[in-house]
Amino acid sequence: MTVLFTNIGELTTNDPTQGDGSRLGLVRDAAVLVDADRVAWVGPGRAAPAADQLVDVGGCAVVPGFVDSHAHLVFAGDRAEEFAARMTGARYEAGGIQTTVRATRRANDQALRATVTALRQEMLAQGTTTVECKSGYGLTVDDEARSLRIAARATSELTFLGAHVVPPEYQGRRDDYVDLVRGPMLDACAPLAKWADVFCDRGAFDADEARAILEAAAERGLQPRLHAGQLQLGRGIALAVQLEAASVDHCTFVSDDDLEALAAARDVTVATLLPGVEFSTRSPWPDGRRMIDAGVTVALATDCNPGSSYTSSMAFCIALAVRDMGLSPAEALWSATCGGAAALRRSDVGVLAPGRRADFLTLRAPSYIHLAYRPGVPLIGSVVLAGAVVPT
Ligand code: NIG
Ligand code: FE
Repeated sequence: MTVLFTNIGELTTNDPTQGDGSRLGLVRDAAVLVDADRVAWVGPGRAAPAADQLVDVGGCAVVPGFVDSHAHLVFAGDRAEEFAARMTGARYEAGGIQTTVRATRRANDQALRATVTALRQEMLAQGTTTVECKSGYGLTVDDEARSLRIAARATSELTFLGAHVVPPEYQGRRDDYVDLVRGPMLDACAPLAKWADVFCDRGAFDADEARAILEAAAERGLQPRLHAGQLQLGRGIALAVQLEAASVDHCTFVSDDDLEALAAARDVTVATLLPGVEFSTRSPWPDGRRMIDAGVTVALATDCNPGSSYTSSMAFCIALAVRDMGLSPAEALWSATCGGAAALRRSDVGVLAPGRRADFLTLRAPSYIHLAYRPGVPLIGSVVLAGAVVPT
């Protein structure tokens, strides 16, 4: 069964061999042929092959589904009061994570499952067709393993984040907690995850601790990624490059040496920017322009979590990256699709080309530029996930 989506006013393929030859590979008056869950053909509508079924999208823009490569969806409660306090001057610190850890430990599986399912649906309705999800609000062997089992309802891009912060029962005994994470917690969690992550920043873990944990994780088959450079300059970004991490996330504070290392590692380690965090913590904006000009591969993600960034909207992140981080609308869309795919080392998503997964969005707009130009407006029309229009 093949379906031809026709009358696409502007198609972003992310395939530079298509259309205008730009990085976005823009094709005007385009069509996309879908065969089961895959793209079979893309090109100008007048050259489209025959299909079993036609879908006329009415001249709107079509873009690849968003790839949100950084989210924390397994948690209970919220921290609205903490957000309100920040908006009137309080500073964001890693310690707030403990509030969510307490609530998450107390919550039953059913409640956590309901939250994960609702957030995944919220994301899908806003055009996110691939999402990563971390543990990190359990911080016991059982609660971390439980978080990953529950997160598996939402995605197969699962990340073990036992090293989010040192939980209260280990205060004053941080070495013992690092040993727990490197030993029994990894034993229980490695079979349930693909990635291991460490929050390497003020109030969380230092670069030596992060290295020890990520090396132990690699021995058990988990690939590294890192949270670093959110709260201050540090050694986390350099460590990510040394360990050939798929991504180093936040990068709010980036030294010249970090920048050079990230640029040299552009085909290995992605810098993932999380504009929702700067928005929600009133932090300085990372200089995305400086990173892209230096040759760094940049992704955009939501970091959806109840503390530092409680948004699930990739379109909102695109708008912030354009307005406040110096990205062009084209760069921001690329980073929210192809950039996220690179951060997850996925070649099947992020690009609309034959053989890739048929994940794409129709926009209630004539051009992708409207994603930044019309912030806060619900522009996502239909969401096509693995070839099927999903009810949203
Ligand atoms: O990515 N930086 C560390 N972890 C999350 C914040 C978690 C929280 O505040 O609950 C983040 O920003
Ligand atoms: Fe995060």
